Amino acid sequence: MHLQGIDTVVLEQRSREYVLGRIRAGVLEHGFADLMRTAQCGDRMDAEGEIHDGFFIAYNGTKRRVDLKKYSGGSSVVVYGQTELTRDLYEARVKLNGVVIHNAEDVKPHDITSKAPYLTYRKGDDIHRVDCEFIIGADGFHGVSRKSIPDDVLNEFERTYPFGWLGVLSRTKPVSPELIYARHERGFALCSLRSQVLSRYYIQVPLTDSVEDWSDEDFWTELKHRLPNDVADQLITGPSIEKSIAPLRSFVAEPMRYGNMFLAGDSAHIVPPTGARGLNSAASDIFYLYHAMMDYYKKGDEKGLEEYSGKALARVWKAQRFSWWMTMMLHRFPDQITYDGRLQDTELEYLFSSETALGSLAENYVGLPF
Ligand code: PHB
Repeated sequence: MHLQGIDTVVLEQRSREYVLGRIRAGVLEHGFADLMRTAQCGDRMDAEGEIHDGFFIAYNGTKRRVDLKKYSGGSSVVVYGQTELTRDLYEARVKLNGVVIHNAEDVKPHDITSKAPYLTYRKGDDIHRVDCEFIIGADGFHGVSRKSIPDDVLNEFERTYPFGWLGVLSRTKPVSPELIYARHERGFALCSLRSQVLSRYYIQVPLTDSVEDWSDEDFWTELKHRLPNDVADQLITGPSIEKSIAPLRSFVAEPMRYGNMFLAGDSAHIVPPTGARGLNSAASDIFYLYHAMMDYYKKGDEKGLEEYSGKALARVWKAQRFSWWMTMMLHRFPDQITYDGRLQDTELEYLFSSETALGSLAENYVGLPF
């Protein structure tokens, strides 16, 4: 938007160091990668990110490859860390003299349904005010934006899962050049990466576990149990440089527009990480919003803004469906009955026996059209 001459102010509750210290998602849809290029923030992603044409699903002691390129009709994904993308966006913002106000606390939107909404925030002891035409509520699940929509307007849909993912980042060569999603009796595991010298691994853990319960050694031992033998034998372990537990949640809030405030990303929707849709769903909101804003500012056409909530939600729900499906197929549920386990097996057997089923998985994983 800045490149198009539209003035924006970013309010960030945390410091830049805090934001850049968090390890987040790592798989970008090809459409999102294009959006980064449009924003002239794709150079380092293109130089350092990896194109992945497929990934593996491991179960019953072996792994099977999903050929994304073949089954999606030529598309792939880019493996590049969200933290690195954020760093690139920050740097581009600085270069353009764009405003990012860090440590902005007690942010409150006001007069949202009027033509002249404004925000107030506190920095240190001082209260500040920002007048604007539009507010983009991209302030996360716990942010103030969604909570500012009246109860009789907002509808929320939620499913929680009885487990979390324990994630470890380590400066080791990844066990596989492509991701491995593993279904196992002891629980789900994922082998991912940030580069060919930086690995990211996850294991499903009970919600009652905390990071302190898991030494690096215990983590590696459990991960190996859940991988096929030939993969476990190849696993290179090392000290963790980050370790955290994330609970799994599916959540959607409707509508995504209230007055002149537009919700985007986690403020409106959360997915479990199993389908790698979280960051990508946020990016798809921004794709719709960017084009709607361009039509409004360049042509005076409000149609895109009016259609934003409906269009964004249609795609958001498809990402919800896909993430839920991947989660249900690959995790061990504490109350699982033997019937459920056989259904999970059958789901995988069907998937790898049907080009149509593989096509459905692939088109969702590389990103549905905007
Ligand atoms: C990750 O690398 O952090 C990652 C990759 C794929 C997922 C979830 C997380 O589905």
